[in-house]
Amino acid sequence: MDNLAGCPYERTCLSARNFSSKRINMSNQAAIHKVLIVGYGVMGKGVSATFAAAGFDTMIKSSRAAELDDLPEGVTAISDLPGAAPDLVIEFVPEDVAIKQKVFADIEAAWPNDEVIIATGTSGMSLDVLSEKLARPELFTGIHYFMPAESTAVAEVMAGPGAPAEVVDAVADAVRRTGKEIVTLYKPIVGFLINRLQHIILHEAYYLVEEGVATPADIDMAARKMLAPRMCLNGLIEQKDTSGLEIHALAQRSIVPELHPIEIPNPLIQDMVARGEVGLSAGRGFYDWDGCDVDRVRKQSSERLRKLSKFLDEEVSEYAPHTKPKTRELKRGQ
Ligand SMILES: NC(=O)c1ccc[n+]([C@@H]2O[C@H](COP(=O)([O-])OP(=O)(O)OC[C@H]3O[C@@H](n4cnc5c(N)ncnc54)[C@H](O)[C@@H]3O)[C@@H](O)[C@H]2O)c1
Repeated sequence: MDNLAGCPYERTCLSARNFSSKRINMSNQAAIHKVLIVGYGVMGKGVSATFAAAGFDTMIKSSRAAELDDLPEGVTAISDLPGAAPDLVIEFVPEDVAIKQKVFADIEAAWPNDEVIIATGTSGMSLDVLSEKLARPELFTGIHYFMPAESTAVAEVMAGPGAPAEVVDAVADAVRRTGKEIVTLYKPIVGFLINRLQHIILHEAYYLVEEGVATPADIDMAARKMLAPRMCLNGLIEQKDTSGLEIHALAQRSIVPELHPIEIPNPLIQDMVARGEVGLSAGRGFYDWDGCDVDRVRKQSSERLRKLSKFLDEEVSEYAPHTKPKTRELKRGQ
């Protein structure tokens, strides 16, 4: 492993204060095998590699198709939509409503008589908004990948506002066959699941920093040494079952009303970005990264994640022995 002595993994922490659906025939979608990816950027390239490696018929549509010399093995690049309809189109064009809606319109116009599932690769846009102009919203879904898409273990698959469970399941099945574990969401919600959980924790963390209650280093130490290991072993919710819900219910009553309630992005972050303090790549964020080798730090981080994921795969079962997780039926009052 790289030795990063002197380069902040031994970091200097800056002062806290500076800081419905139509009926559709699912027989085709039950086994997706032909996938078209629109947009050959970071995500398009990574995701196309996962489908090709898993044996899917995988195409990339890019205006630069003829020039691309770094295509993943098994991926075909095309500059125009093909005559025969794919089973699934995933768009990875820039995060802009108009650009994405134009891609969807072109797809629907190309194969009006085929049941082509469209998936947006957005990470933060509303699927309600993105689907507004679709002729067939019942075939619209979202897939949320994490970087690097080739190797991260989990992806999220979410229903668009009109998509029935069968369509979501068909997409989830296809992505699962590329080797990912899938979070399946049957209703559209901005941010999918993982980013929503991450942002609610960060929202509170930024508040504690802003108020001078805790330093970023203390928050990160608590995350590394306590929250994250416990989550790795017992998840979030199973851990509460294990330790007992009585104390937890009492703690909910005393702590939840005291959490930071403001529903706007924390100005601390907005101000830091406006000043150019965007983190590692700029040499300064919550930590002082001046003089660090950006690539080495990122490489070490992804290598550690790979090793940890391997350990968790091999050593930690998904649920405690003999437990049967309750699923969707759990509602208030039950
Ligand atoms: N990068 C990430 O970490 C990440 C993670 C999850 C989701 N996403 C989402 O994935 C999508 C793409 O992000 P990215 O990081 O790959 O962006 P990127 O800028 O690397 O790639 C976008 C690509 O789309 C191409 N493009 C633009 N308009 C096009 C069009 N009309 N038809 C075909 N290609 C077109 C561009 O030339 C570029 O190659 C965004 O919606 C983003 O939010 C990104």
